[in-house]
Amino acid sequence: MWEADKDDLFDTPAPTRQHGPRSVTGELTSDDIDVERSLRPRTLDDYCGQERVRENLRVLIQAAKDRGEPLDHVIFSGPPGLGKTTLAGVVANEMGAKLHTTSGPAIERTGDLAAILTNLEEGDVLFVDEIHRLNHQVEEVLYPAMEDFFLDIVIGKGPAARSIRLDIPRFTLVGATTRTGLLTGPLRDRFGISYRLDYYTNPELSTIVMRSASILGVQLDTQAAAEIASRSRGTPRLANRLLKRVRDYAQVRANGDITWEIAAEALSFFEIDELGLDWMDIKILEVLTRTFRGRPVGLTTVASAVGEDPSTLEDVYEPYLLQRGLITRTPQGRQAMPAAFEHLGVPLPPQK
Ligand SMILES: Nc1ncnc2c1ncn2[C@@H]1O[C@H](COP(=O)(O)OP(=O)(O)O)[C@@H](O)[C@H]1O
Ligand SMILES: [Mg+2]
Repeated sequence: MWEADKDDLFDTPAPTRQHGPRSVTGELTSDDIDVERSLRPRTLDDYCGQERVRENLRVLIQAAKDRGEPLDHVIFSGPPGLGKTTLAGVVANEMGAKLHTTSGPAIERTGDLAAILTNLEEGDVLFVDEIHRLNHQVEEVLYPAMEDFFLDIVIGKGPAARSIRLDIPRFTLVGATTRTGLLTGPLRDRFGISYRLDYYTNPELSTIVMRSASILGVQLDTQAAAEIASRSRGTPRLANRLLKRVRDYAQVRANGDITWEIAAEALSFFEIDELGLDWMDIKILEVLTRTFRGRPVGLTTVASAVGEDPSTLEDVYEPYLLQRGLITRTPQGRQAMPAAFEHLGVPLPPQK
């Protein structure tokens, strides 16, 4: 399961919710996966935004190519949908290397990893998605492989067990994780290059929407693109998904062209929040504003109040709410900011 053309199989979006009124932005259908694949940039030039990461990579890739060496191991971190998987493909493509794709949870035993590594060829790129979910034994085998390109494999059990050393080709490991804090120190240290992806600005998302529209063959004006961008939660995956829904609406309710009026109409038809907040974001804000009335609340309390796993809250939802100034993190816990009260139309509690 690790040919370049299968890379999207592991492309898991934000954890899917079973139901809820926000399925327009929440769930990923197989149709979405096909669209994502067709819209995925293949080169650094096609990749929009993340300027610093892009320019950095351009230099590092050029330098490695000039020396005829594989690129140093790279780790990308950041919330779902910001382009980590895409960048792994771009890196392989720009290096002219073959891409192999797997994920932390898919490598269950050290033998699985050994099979993957011994199948690599010199210069290949191995993409490990959700690398923070590798188990401990597998990680231990990975360290020398990353550092010195060999594997120590134990054969047999008990007193008869012996270890053999296998050389493996020099390869580039590209890892992706929702948060670098989730990696163990020794693993983190073995990546020579580390980037954190940030939420995209509205102009960047507009560019992405325009590009996607032209690939999909949809007529879209710049104001419509800006409208879609502003409701995409800083996230290209969502921007593309909203574009697709707006396209459906334009096709059925108009002549297929997307003007600003049609886009605005479609987005309100699908009840897309003006800030792009989804059902869970809103639930979190409701809890912090209505239930706790702006008082600081511990992460686990918020998590149980909204029925979500604390680490998902922290990795997937909080970063955007923090970035938009809707919540804040204090030593006492999470707290709703005035902007959250305003967004939900909840009166601010009286100041003491
Ligand atoms: N910088 C970008 N420029 C254009 N499109 C992007 C960019 N980043 C992501 N996308 C789009 O968003 C989708 C999701 O990106 P992906 O790499 O799967 O995110 P992640 O792996 O971080 O969850 C991709 O299919 C691609 O179409
Ligand atoms: Mg991904």
